[in-house]
Amino acid sequence: MNFKKKIFCALDFSELDQTIQFIKKIKDHIGGIKIGLEFFCKNGPAGVEKLKEFELPIFLDLKLHDIPNTVAKAFKNLIHLSPDYLTVHLNGGKRMIQELIQYKKETKLIGVSMLTSLDQNDLKESGIMCDEISYIEKLTRIGVSSGIDGVVSSPKEVKLLRKNFEKLILVTPGIRLPNDDKNDQKRTETPGTAIKNGSSLLIIGRTITESNNPISSIEKIIQNIKDEI
Ligand code: C5P
Repeated sequence: MNFKKKIFCALDFSELDQTIQFIKKIKDHIGGIKIGLEFFCKNGPAGVEKLKEFELPIFLDLKLHDIPNTVAKAFKNLIHLSPDYLTVHLNGGKRMIQELIQYKKETKLIGVSMLTSLDQNDLKESGIMCDEISYIEKLTRIGVSSGIDGVVSSPKEVKLLRKNFEKLILVTPGIRLPNDDKNDQKRTETPGTAIKNGSSLLIIGRTITESNNPISSIEKIIQNIKDEI
């Protein structure tokens, strides 16, 4: 199996030049690029157009979340970029998601369930009394019944989600190699475990971008997948 295709590198850089130089280095070793708020807030749609020149699948992680009307109008301003994937927060609710579904063309809409930097205590603090898994499952059901194409979750929930939602695209950040620093992520797993449990795409940032040898890190990621599945 071609595991390279499953690896999307999170390009959490601010500068366009730095981002382009980094893509040049790793482009033949990954399946796609993930562009998030850091890059987008600095470089905007024009920056994304530049990155499209690499002809790699683009995962535009803007985590849209507002009232349905505002989100739909923001989405219309992004449609010309035709990203392969675009994220939206599932707790924006059914109406917000449905509003987007009607405008999307080829772009796959991916719902963000619970950030991988949050855990049970964070839920409790905001008055959400169910456990992480049930919360994520509930949010996923909202997404599925609104027509979402996929869901972002931590690797800890992938197994259950795959069991209950056979056809959903499961996108997994919070990936770390066995000896990596977790940084701000709380619910992490290795690439191999995530794939074994049913993940469709791995979003991997600092393990690659902060490595002294990014290509060797990608090779280690692929080896970890081969070893574990
Ligand atoms: O550096 P690291 O591998 O932790 O990067 C993970 C990437 O995945 C970041 O770009 C972050 O924005 C993104 N992400 C996440 N948790 C989510 C959704 C996206 O960490 N629930």
